Amino acid sequence: MFTITTPVTDDELASYFHFRWQWLREQWGYPEGSEKDEYETVSEHRVVKTTSGQIVACGRVHLNTNEEAQIRHIAVDKAYRRKGVGKIILSTLEQVARELGAKRAVTNSRESSLSFFSANGFTAVHNLSTELGKLKRKQMYKNLVDNTGLIQHPKWCNELQNTWHEQIPISEHMGIKLHQYTERTIETRASLNKNINLHGTMFAGSIYSLATLTGWGMLFLQLKQKGLQGEIVLGDANIHYHKPVTMKPRAVCNIESVKAKLKELEKGKKCPASLTVDIYDNDQAVAKFSGQYWILPINTKAK
Ligand SMILES: CC(C)(COP(=O)(O)OP(=O)(O)OC[C@H]1O[C@@H](n2cnc3c(N)ncnc32)[C@H](O)[C@@H]1OP(=O)(O)O)[C@@H](O)C(=O)NCCC(=O)NCCS
Repeated sequence: MFTITTPVTDDELASYFHFRWQWLREQWGYPEGSEKDEYETVSEHRVVKTTSGQIVACGRVHLNTNEEAQIRHIAVDKAYRRKGVGKIILSTLEQVARELGAKRAVTNSRESSLSFFSANGFTAVHNLSTELGKLKRKQMYKNLVDNTGLIQHPKWCNELQNTWHEQIPISEHMGIKLHQYTERTIETRASLNKNINLHGTMFAGSIYSLATLTGWGMLFLQLKQKGLQGEIVLGDANIHYHKPVTMKPRAVCNIESVKAKLKELEKGKKCPASLTVDIYDNDQAVAKFSGQYWILPINTKAK
């Protein structure tokens, strides 16, 4: 039985880097410390542990661009190889990459690990210059397509996502993505990595922004569904933070919480709309947002 964790404390990080050095550097006579590079602070790190807490695998992923994730430094303890542990750490990093918004993953594979990456869906693209002395490498590539989200009305959902990114550029910097829309529920996600504070938890302002955009998105899609048009603005809001976000930020708004007098909009008048958004860290509820929005008629003066 294995568990996957993120090294966070100084001790956990020290054990993680030591493991990485031990299996990826020591053999070539490189000193401890040589296993690190300038991307550590912007990367997501994971380890696989046994039930007794022994690290048996490690790996790291960071974004090269908004769409491309680089997977590096995968290693499995020799005593645990060919038992599927490499697959566990690799698929974990692929999932992290998807959550960061990546559409493809690349890795610079040593010749000795080409079969491993091929067996996990990677394709060799081209040869790379040698690193660590004699080790030849190939760049390998895998398409990451997130099929886990259930999206209804993909055209409107794409329009919403593009509207966020074009009109509210910070939403793209925060890695905010529409994850699911089912006519009754909208779920969005954000990148923890891009919104982290000094304590290693999600910045409260980012949680607020995620909730605001989620509520805004719910109203945007509801208007589309009803064939209405309007300019949505936030009038007032309140948020209660119960717990910190340390893993996977998610925001969910259900139709039951939405109270909107859309008849007013149909009459060309501004329409009040209130709703609540629940913020989760993975499956744990961590904050609740109540928003009072206004939907203003387009091309007519609000009455
Ligand atoms: C490459 C590495 C991470 C693979 O880890 P692992 O836990 O042994 O991999 P898995 O058990 O998940 O293997 C999954 C599949 O990959 C393939 N595979 C893995 N290692 C392989 C090898 N040495 N030769 C051929 N195929 C291999 C097999 O298809 C395997 O499935 P199978 O065991 O059912 O045949 C591990 O060998 C390692 O740490 N090597 C040293 C460090 C390294 O080279 N890291 C890559 C950095 S570029």
